[in-house]
Amino acid sequence: MLICRPMVRYNLDEVSDEMVLGENIFSPNGDLLLAAGFRLSEPFRKRLRQLGFIHVYIQVFGTEDVVPEQVVSEHIQREIASAVNKGTTDLRHAFNVRMESSTHIRKMIRQNRQHLNKFLSSGNFLGAVEKMIDEILSNPTVMLNMETLKNAGQELFSHALNVTVISMAIGRKYRFSYEEMKQLALGAINADIGLIAVPEDVRKSAPDAMDDYGRELYKNHTLYGYLMLSQNHTITPTSAAVALQHHEHQDGSGYPRGIKGENRPPMKDLMRKGVIHRFAEIVAVADTFDTLCSGRNGNAGIDVREAMKRLIELSGQVLNSDIVKTLASIVPTFPTGARFRIVEAPSSQLIGYFGVVAKTNEENLECPQIILYESKNRQKIKPIFIDLALHSGFQLEVVL
Ligand SMILES: [Fe+2]
Ligand SMILES: [Fe+2]
Repeated sequence: MLICRPMVRYNLDEVSDEMVLGENIFSPNGDLLLAAGFRLSEPFRKRLRQLGFIHVYIQVFGTEDVVPEQVVSEHIQREIASAVNKGTTDLRHAFNVRMESSTHIRKMIRQNRQHLNKFLSSGNFLGAVEKMIDEILSNPTVMLNMETLKNAGQELFSHALNVTVISMAIGRKYRFSYEEMKQLALGAINADIGLIAVPEDVRKSAPDAMDDYGRELYKNHTLYGYLMLSQNHTITPTSAAVALQHHEHQDGSGYPRGIKGENRPPMKDLMRKGVIHRFAEIVAVADTFDTLCSGRNGNAGIDVREAMKRLIELSGQVLNSDIVKTLASIVPTFPTGARFRIVEAPSSQLIGYFGVVAKTNEENLECPQIILYESKNRQKIKPIFIDLALHSGFQLEVVL
């Protein structure tokens, strides 16, 4: 399903009382929370913030033709998200971890084998993953529009889902087969499953606020995840390897084992001892990119352009440089639907105006088509269409 209402994504903090919701908002379980057309007064904005939403789509007339490229349709995203959410809630009840010793947690993983297998082998979940792969493989665009991924709210499951969609987009670009895509998807979506066995206060604290003990507990999620996945018959060893190795670094400075990568294209390969598996390398890039863009623990995240710069800095030593390069080639800096402010323009009058990217230019990712709809003092204006491939001298800054 394509988004065809006139709407632009706003940070909840920038939404004012007269703004009208452009899309339906669903709870993690797939229930409708607020319908499109609803006026978002402060009590509702507050409630959405409490639920973990950072952004919402707002109706903006004049943007009817803005159709963000969707890698995976909303209903499949929701289907997977609700399967993951339901599964992890059940598992969390079963685990209920406080500060437990690692021997105790391993025992708990063995004892909960049934719960785990029920979740991992559930038909709903696997069916939704297969539908997602079909969609990605048949989608005419190879572009990865982060804007269409960031509105899922609820960071817990949206992170797993985003990491999976980003990994799939990379896998597609490398022309992976259906079976490879499936193994990659099941590895990506379950990469952080081991966090269920990490105490909640550790799991939820910001990485720099953790002490050494907390950090060690956190790092264990890789090992716990591997133990959880490797006992299930629907998960292949290559998918399980993703949970174990997605925090390993190319130069060997990662965890849990300090194995290395070779910065090579992730082509067909057997599992080689002491070398990071190609699926784990892809998920490492996807995970870092989504954490940067979507933020973590209530942070709004940084813009795609900055996030990509950061990935390039990390490439070679931390992340596989070939995979980072491939991701950069499919992520538009100014994706369709992104809201921006003009910081430089041939006519100084336009500086400070707000607009939305109307269409990505696949030939030149820096020069999209844009629509301006708001003056610098936030007054609505008659929409102005500009093709940046034909007009130079503009510089845009994406508003998060
Ligand atoms: Fe992780
Ligand atoms: Fe992660």
